[in-house]
Amino acid sequence: MLSAEDKKHIKAIWPSVAAHADQFGADALYRMFLSNPQTKTYFPKFDFHKDSAQMKAHGKKVVDALTEASNHLDNIGGTLSKLSDLHAHDMRVDPGNFPLLSHHILVVIALHFPKQFDFAAHQALDKFLATVSAVLTSKYR
Ligand code: HEM
Repeated sequence: MLSAEDKKHIKAIWPSVAAHADQFGADALYRMFLSNPQTKTYFPKFDFHKDSAQMKAHGKKVVDALTEASNHLDNIGGTLSKLSDLHAHDMRVDPGNFPLLSHHILVVIALHFPKQFDFAAHQALDKFLATVSAVLTSKYR
């Protein structure tokens, strides 16, 4: 459950992340594919090179979805409902992969905004990504 304090931290930092959606998204995906190569199996015919057009396009989609969630912190479930259907029923992504991508997104944000990324912001973003992941893995059964 996101506290009022968490929401404040998320809203403070997220516009800076959203402004670099394609690059930050691509960086997080690249780190995930490198550190957790099993995640590549969900992306057949994907160009895994750093900063490939596909990496940036998909990275932007992921960050844009998180931006949408950050704009509806009181209704993340409703906001990402369609995306939840897609991940559970179409892509069938194993839920264990969500903490992996969340971790890499956190790392990318921490690298770019070290001053803003204090203990409280870290905790708030971690909770935000865990909440989104819970929504995206909520329709498996
Ligand atoms: C597609 C967001 C986690 C695998 C997508 C799309 C978005 C998205 C917005 C595009 C949907 C569309 O085309 O309408 C997210 C978010 C995540 C997340 C916000 C968590 C923070 C993951 C994870 C995996 C994954 C952990 C697997 C390791 C896929 C795949 C597609 C997809 C395979 C389809 C790609 C394509 O063929 O275009 N995701 N995703 N997602 N996602 Fe995720």
